[in-house]
Amino acid sequence: MSKVGVIMGSKSDLPVMQDAIDILKNFDIEVEVDIVSAHRTPEKLFDYGAHAHHRGFSVVIAGAGGAAHLPGMIASLSPLPVIGVPVKSSNSIDGWDSILSILQMPGGVPVATVALNGAKNAGILAAQIIGSSNAEVLNKIVAYKEALKVKVTESAKGLQ
Ligand code: RP5
Repeated sequence: MSKVGVIMGSKSDLPVMQDAIDILKNFDIEVEVDIVSAHRTPEKLFDYGAHAHHRGFSVVIAGAGGAAHLPGMIASLSPLPVIGVPVKSSNSIDGWDSILSILQMPGGVPVATVALNGAKNAGILAAQIIGSSNAEVLNKIVAYKEALKVKVTESAKGLQ
């Protein structure tokens, strides 16, 4: 079974990153959560990036804020798809620093960057990547999207 690695630069990112963990669990996808700081634990970062694909992960979701180098550095080391979550952290000026330091990767080293604090979408995207080769997960995504549609239809009816 596929497994997603959810990592963040600091425990202070957890309230945001919890959304990714929750939605992945909702899809019954195994999640392994860890704190890996690009600046405070660079050796751990290197080890994680170099070996994530040996440890059974299919996708890595990495969240960080401010000088948010974690997702890009993991992407530089790992052959796995990396989804970056810019976090509006206490050291972020206005969120743009987090966004741009994750988004503006050089050619050859992609990071799929979601919205500021968009960890839920990171979890859904990871599930969709897994679902592209796993019918069971794909069916759960189909059902999830159907439920979104029903919810909007119901709220529109409520306006009548
Ligand atoms: C980043 O610095 C972390 O990812 C976090 O978003 C931010 C602040 O970290 P703390 O000072 O709260 O540990 O590296």
